[in-house]
Amino acid sequence: MEDIVLTHGRYKNLHSTASLGEKLQHLHQMIQQDFAYVDRVAVALYDREMNALKTFVQSAKDLPLQFYECLMENAPSLMEIKALKQNRLVNDMTVFKNGTHEHTQNIASKGYQASYSVPLFDCDAFIGMLFFNSYQKKVFKKQDLTTLDLYAQLINSLMINKLQSTQMLVGSFRSCLSLVSYKDPETGNHLERMARYARLIARALAKEGHPGLTDEFIENLFLFAPLHDIGKIGIPDNILLKPGRLDEEEWKIMQTHSSKGRDIIDAIAGHLGLQSFEHLTLLQNISGSHHETIDGKGYPDRLKKEEIPIETQIVSVADIFDALTSHRSYKPAWSNDAAFEELNRLSGTKLNPDCVRVLMENEPAVKEIQQRFGDDQGSHA
Ligand code: C2E
Ligand code: SIN
Ligand code: SIN
Ligand code: FE
Ligand code: FE
Repeated sequence: MEDIVLTHGRYKNLHSTASLGEKLQHLHQMIQQDFAYVDRVAVALYDREMNALKTFVQSAKDLPLQFYECLMENAPSLMEIKALKQNRLVNDMTVFKNGTHEHTQNIASKGYQASYSVPLFDCDAFIGMLFFNSYQKKVFKKQDLTTLDLYAQLINSLMINKLQSTQMLVGSFRSCLSLVSYKDPETGNHLERMARYARLIARALAKEGHPGLTDEFIENLFLFAPLHDIGKIGIPDNILLKPGRLDEEEWKIMQTHSSKGRDIIDAIAGHLGLQSFEHLTLLQNISGSHHETIDGKGYPDRLKKEEIPIETQIVSVADIFDALTSHRSYKPAWSNDAAFEELNRLSGTKLNPDCVRVLMENEPAVKEIQQRFGDDQGSHA
């Protein structure tokens, strides 16, 4: 052997700006070189607020559990391995055949016969579950688990890394946002609602097969949607809080809030050293372009339909629907029917018609969001 040998660095993709989903796919391929029977690797994210596990990223031929949420109380065996910090090998999933829970039935109905589940932690906080699944029974060997455990720890670290960067970014922006809402208390629960409308629209489009709308993407869209108006920090109070219509000069200044938003995001990401954060473009698109319209007459860049990213088109519809149904210093709150009528009027010229349609098709879910995150002044009759 030579004294110096350069090898090909099979893990270097893990430090690239690829998304977690792409990295997981890469790891899955490597796992399959040793253990060909591992047909699926999946990470479900724990949502503390809901006490639920949500599908997040996965690598498999089939995507059995897309956009799926499972309350922890409905998965007793998962609760147990979480509490005991143990991994669980199920060599024959037919033991779950009579299980009543949708998620195990879902997994079994896709033909998976064996699973190895590993709870993921950040310090002591439970952050999610990792699943290795196989189409074959009794294939996980005891000695294989040692290697799979190492992969599991690697994936755990990738998850921590990703969650921490996200938390740092979102946390910093949320701090700025609390400054905006301090200035402009009227904003109320607008951000809570519009983020949920955005997620509702994205999930519905994904179910219809819209490409690119993965769980991971939608989760980040939900996290970042509330930051769309962060640039309003830079708008003087006498304009931002003006009780009536804006004059031409004021309107020009108000319109700069989108590009100001993009600048603020670039600056904060720079301060945190997160310029290469994988989802920064999502955030930049949402804040910088949420007032572009598909007829190419929006601001600031007059982008045309195909130039406006889907996340931005989704956020526009969510934002406008909530602005219409909320009280503003310059307008009263409209009823849902009146707002839907207005969205219909804007659909196809200003707004993406699919986004408008799926929002309207999900009126019960819209009302649920309004009930849960209502404002005192708002009326959603
Ligand atoms: P915002 O209040 O959060 O409204 C967001 C978007 O909702 C608006 O973006 C607009 O697309 C839509 N929207 C709100 N109210 C109406 C309405 O009565 N009819 C229709 N068709 N759409 C509506 P836009 O127009 O780019 O405005 C951006 C921001 O500028 C607004 O955010 C608000 O902060 C401010 N703004 C806009 N017009 C006025 C105004 O007349 N007076 C004051 N004081 N501020 C205004
Ligand atoms: C589980 O906790 O993994 C599911 C058990 C069941 O579906 O009955
Ligand atoms: C899942 O893959 O989401 C659940 C499967 C299991 O409980 O093992
Ligand atoms: Fe805006
Ligand atoms: Fe808004």
